[in-house]
Amino acid sequence: MSAETPPCQLLERQSEAYRDWLWVAPPHDAWLHTMGGSVWSADAAICQAWRARGRPVHADLAPTLTAPVPGAVLFWPKAHALGEWWLLALCAALPEGTPLQVVGEHQGGVKRVLKSLAALGLGCRKVDSARRCTLYATRTARLALSPEAAWTRFEAAGLTLESHPGVFGHGKLDDGTRQLLEVLPTALGDPAGQRVLDVGCGDGILGAWLGVRGAQVAAVDLDAFAVAATRRTFQANGVAGEAWQSDVFGDVSGSYDAIVSNPPFHQQRAIDYGPAERLIREAPARLVPGGRLVLVANAFLPYPRWLEDAFGEFTVLADDRRFRVYQAVKTRR
Ligand SMILES: C[S@@+](CC[C@H](N)C(=O)[O-])C[C@H]1O[C@@H](n2cnc3c(N)ncnc32)[C@H](O)[C@@H]1O
Repeated sequence: MSAETPPCQLLERQSEAYRDWLWVAPPHDAWLHTMGGSVWSADAAICQAWRARGRPVHADLAPTLTAPVPGAVLFWPKAHALGEWWLLALCAALPEGTPLQVVGEHQGGVKRVLKSLAALGLGCRKVDSARRCTLYATRTARLALSPEAAWTRFEAAGLTLESHPGVFGHGKLDDGTRQLLEVLPTALGDPAGQRVLDVGCGDGILGAWLGVRGAQVAAVDLDAFAVAATRRTFQANGVAGEAWQSDVFGDVSGSYDAIVSNPPFHQQRAIDYGPAERLIREAPARLVPGGRLVLVANAFLPYPRWLEDAFGEFTVLADDRRFRVYQAVKTRR
């Protein structure tokens, strides 16, 4: 089996055997599974794929790594500040002096890692460069900075929102989300007492907005940082909602009076309509009769066809040419 993604193709040509290494925030690449070792990831789908192969998985943002690892490879993420968080988290979780390699694509800004490592006082050696990727090597050290310092707070839509690098909209209200909030009163009426599920919750803004108005909110996201942000946002606004990791409805049970979402249409840098399509097609099964799906999307996205297939019909509650808010109601029959 050969590596599929450019960062893994670069790793594949190294003399290092990577036996029992820790793979941190890796992409989906079947070659990695053949390498063995364990994984640490905030992505529920990645963790699920590793668990399915019986490999040790660390899904927690501050895990206790019981068995020592000979080394770790960090796959540098798109959000630079998130990469810096991983560096701090790895230095906190692994014994001092553990070999740490960082690999990433040039278009993802991996070369900036040199500056970040220097700012942390970590030495660095360039190991190799190919496939428009570079691999660096360093070692973990005891650092004075805590990963906790990455959390920030901001105010929007009358709420206090907790945010973390890598979480959607980091530190600002998305225009699509704003449009959705504007029409939620029309869509849902008085949300008090309604059981509402927010799919792809990000920093928890939709759930918190509904929660302070009395809805019983539940929120899911693929990403552990988003789930942690949502829990903090709920707490900051006195909302007693629940949030957990789920790949769309993968870990959701029960049915809801309403499902709200600003669905994702990107995975990493690539456009991927898969999660949004699953959300729409599977929503009727998660709604009570008469329950509604309310979602916002860029106007160009192909959601009307899926909404028609899944619900028979739908209405457009708002359309400013950039974003559209759709509502579809599950029939009472
Ligand atoms: C466009 S953002 C919306 C965030 C937030 N609801 C808001 O309105 O600001 C989409 C969210 O979906 C999450 N996501 C991506 N793929 C997912 C999946 N397969 N299952 C659940 N959530 C997913 C992303 O992590 C991101 O937080």
